[in-house]
Amino acid sequence: MEIKPFGVEQWMNRWETLAVNNIAETCVDSLFLYELLELSERKEEILVDLLGTRMTYGDIKGSEGLRRLIAGLYEERNPETVLVMNGGSAANFLTIFTLVNPGDRVISVWPTYQQLTSIPEAFGARVDILELRPGNSWLPDTDELEKMSENGVDLICLNNPNNPTGSLMDREMLEKIAGIARQHGAWVLCDEAYRGLVHEPGVSVPSMADIYEKGVSTGSMSKVFSLAGLRSGWMAGPQEFIEEAFARRDYTTISCGPLVDALAVVALENREKIMERNLEIIRESVALLGEWVDSEPAFHWVRPRAGTTAFVGYDLDIPSDEFCIDLLGSTGTFLLPGSCFGIEKRLRFGYAYGTEALKRGLESVSGWVRQDQGRKR
Ligand SMILES: Cc1ncc(COP(=O)(O)O)c(C=O)c1O
Repeated sequence: MEIKPFGVEQWMNRWETLAVNNIAETCVDSLFLYELLELSERKEEILVDLLGTRMTYGDIKGSEGLRRLIAGLYEERNPETVLVMNGGSAANFLTIFTLVNPGDRVISVWPTYQQLTSIPEAFGARVDILELRPGNSWLPDTDELEKMSENGVDLICLNNPNNPTGSLMDREMLEKIAGIARQHGAWVLCDEAYRGLVHEPGVSVPSMADIYEKGVSTGSMSKVFSLAGLRSGWMAGPQEFIEEAFARRDYTTISCGPLVDALAVVALENREKIMERNLEIIRESVALLGEWVDSEPAFHWVRPRAGTTAFVGYDLDIPSDEFCIDLLGSTGTFLLPGSCFGIEKRLRFGYAYGTEALKRGLESVSGWVRQDQGRKR
């Protein structure tokens, strides 16, 4: 079985360790473990419990407490309709491994997290791309989806909020897509790794798992909870799907381990405090990035509405990977090129990984562009 190299992850693996100003990372300013424990106001008690944990596989499905807390993030879930995984990426993989057969027809938005297209393709599905375009605010065109589905579709892959563009589908659009899927008996996988990170106060959108009877939503501790190092995520969906996925999970995961389980419980119990911190960070950071884009004539964007990334366009005569490598070499500022998505003259900014790094990074991009343009003239 062949699978395409994962463009974004390979770029990050190759270059991220050299970053001085990392403005490509997609997590909201990752927490130190002590910060999580202090925020919980139960530090000593949690540490004693962790030290007293016997290093067995733990609860194979994930503890009832953890699954109950995850279920609480949705309108209509119970612990039997969620499944704990080692990260949102593992949840996406297992979902596709459970739902996709060779010869199936999959329609996926693009650009997005590459798992959603490359894994179904590797499993022998035909994958058609529903292109997200800046002229349509990086949102899917549902008329186009309807047309593409005319000859049948087995799975529709979405990502809400979207990485890299920061676009956000609202309830109406999600319901429209669910309606199209329903006509064809198709599943919908919605990667919701950035769910809740919305810039405009008071705006919230539902989860696909709550809207559609064949909807599966995947979630993660990495971005929204600033705990990528925990390697914890999950999927939420109909019970029969969760049971089938659980049967397959024996082959990949067995369990996610009791330490991760216990710390994920701490994070979810303190969800409101973490969300308050993180919403403040993303809103302040996107405002900084917005001021910068407005002040730089060579750059333009569709302002993101949610998440931690923006897909910024530029009008300079340099391919995006050369742009990023040269910038990193001469300034230490790390960005991700649009070429990782097969889209040129774009850069993915991850703006929420620390405001000081963001300010320094943006300043250095400005300086570098001026110098580089000077050199060319
Ligand atoms: C849209 C999306 N889904 C899933 C993931 C994987 O996250 P994790 O495996 O850390 O939960 C990422 C990471 O960048 C992402 O951007």
